Amino acid sequence: MATKNETIISFENVQKVYTNKSGMAYVALNGVSFEIKKGEFVAVMGPSGSGKTTVLDLMGTLDSPTGGSIIIAGKRVNEMSNSELAELRNMDIGFVFQSYNLVPYLSAIQNVMLPTMVSKKHGSEAMSNAIKLMKEVGLGDKLEKKPNELSGGEQQRVAVVRALVNNPKILLADEPTGNLDTKSAIAVLQILARVNKEFGTTIVLSTHDPEVGIFAKRRIFIRDGLITKENMMAKLSDTKKL
Ligand SMILES: Nc1ncnc2c1ncn2[C@@H]1O[C@H](COP(=O)(O)OP(=O)(O)O)[C@@H](O)[C@H]1O
Ligand SMILES: [Mg+2]
Repeated sequence: MATKNETIISFENVQKVYTNKSGMAYVALNGVSFEIKKGEFVAVMGPSGSGKTTVLDLMGTLDSPTGGSIIIAGKRVNEMSNSELAELRNMDIGFVFQSYNLVPYLSAIQNVMLPTMVSKKHGSEAMSNAIKLMKEVGLGDKLEKKPNELSGGEQQRVAVVRALVNNPKILLADEPTGNLDTKSAIAVLQILARVNKEFGTTIVLSTHDPEVGIFAKRRIFIRDGLITKENMMAKLSDTKKL
């Protein structure tokens, strides 16, 4: 049985060196260590170029580290086969990106159902769950709309539902509000906070914006590929009472 204090993501002295076509090496992460427990809501914060996307890509096993080790859901990533990695990405991890990444010729609900094609969970139960999630994010009347018929905020809410449709253990969101106006950004962040609370989904988002980071319960600050500080904060609901 999973206990609440179980570590779900562990980085141990993780390094990432990118080498460009002309052989020039760039150290994007220079020995990063932290642990994230099941059910946490963490913001990885830092200025542009600090290494946030690299951290999230490594967490999502979209890329591999050049040093150190990463353990996701109890498994050491560099010891996993390609098929095990694919299964981890498809079943246990949901991704949300700054640019929504919806398929333009599919409707909102078809976009949401895409991950269930891979996970082979696309029965009527999955469809009714998807419709329920779409209603919960306020898009119950937009199921048949194409992405270009939706606002940025609506597209990102579709992307969040798509990331949740396989009921992942971990939701990774890389600058999810980077392209949104304040009102739409708050709507998306409130959905993430609710998902974290109601489903217990572990959420890691990246942002350069302190006003976005405040929605998380814990912040990890990164600069030039190194963690500079960490802070935990009381729940937003508690801070409002101050
Ligand atoms: N594929 C790559 N090849 C070379 N350098 C890269 C590559 N991806 C990222 N970098 C560099 O690594 C650093 C960290 O990038 P990134 O993780 O995208 O930062 P952030 O998301 O915080 O803006 C940046 O200086 C960036 O230019
Ligand atoms: Mg980035």
